[in-house]
Amino acid sequence: MVTLLHASVASMSTPADTRPGAGAWVPVGAGIEALRAAAAQCEGCELHRAATQTVFSAGPVSARLALVGEQPGDAEDRAGAPFVGPAGQLLDRALADAGIERDATYVTNAVKHFRFTATPQRRLHQTPDLAHLSACRPWLTAELAVVDPEVVVCLGATAARALLGADFRVTRQRGMLFARPARSDDPGLVRAGWLMATVHPSAVLRADDRDAAYEALVADLRTARNAL
Ligand code: URA
Ligand code: SF4
Repeated sequence: MVTLLHASVASMSTPADTRPGAGAWVPVGAGIEALRAAAAQCEGCELHRAATQTVFSAGPVSARLALVGEQPGDAEDRAGAPFVGPAGQLLDRALADAGIERDATYVTNAVKHFRFTATPQRRLHQTPDLAHLSACRPWLTAELAVVDPEVVVCLGATAARALLGADFRVTRQRGMLFARPARSDDPGLVRAGWLMATVHPSAVLRADDRDAAYEALVADLRTARNAL
C-alpha cells in the first residue's frame, strides 16, 4: 500500500528527466525545414510526453532580427506555432509600434515543448528548468546557425538565461545591446552581432502599470531595430 501510494505520487510530479538532450535528433548541416521536421520527433527530454506537439519557429530564414521566447504556451501548444496566444498578440502590437515587421522576423523559443501542470480546469504554465533549457539548446543553436541574424532579442528571463547566462538580470540589463563576438565553440552564435534581452510580453500583461511596461518593451524593441 505504501509503495503504491509512493508510485502514484511520483507519477503525478514531473521530475526533470532531460537525458539525453536534443543533440541526437538534430541533423547536421540541415536547413530550417529539415530541422523543423526533425524537431517534431524530438524526445530529448520528458516534456514531449505531455505536450501536444513540438512548436518550432515562425518567420523567414532571411530574417536579420530573431526573437527568442521561453516556451510555447497553451495556445501555441495547440496551434503548433510560436506566439499566437495572448502574449503573441501583445508582441505583435509592440513590434508594429517599434517599426518592426513581424513577418520579416524569425520567432522561436528556448524550449520547444509546453511545460505545464494539469489542473481539472486548465493547463498551468510551468517555467522550464535549466535542465530543459540545456536539453533543448541544440535546436536553438542549429536554427540560429542557419538564420544567422544580426540581432537576437531574448524575450524574458528564461531566454536570457539560455543565451546570456545565469548571471544575467533582465531587470537591470534589459534594453542593453551586447556585442556578440563570433564564437567558434557555439555554431549558433558564429557570426558577430548583437544580443539583447527585454521583458517577456506575458510580464507586460501581468504588470501593475501595463501602459508603462508596454512602452518600455516597445522602447527596447526600437533599440534592437536601430541596431540592424
Ligand atoms: N510565450 C513564449 O515564451 N513563447 C510563446 O511562443 C508563447 C508564449
Ligand atoms: Fe526535445 Fe526540446 Fe521538446 Fe525536450 S523540449 S523533447 S529537448 S524539443
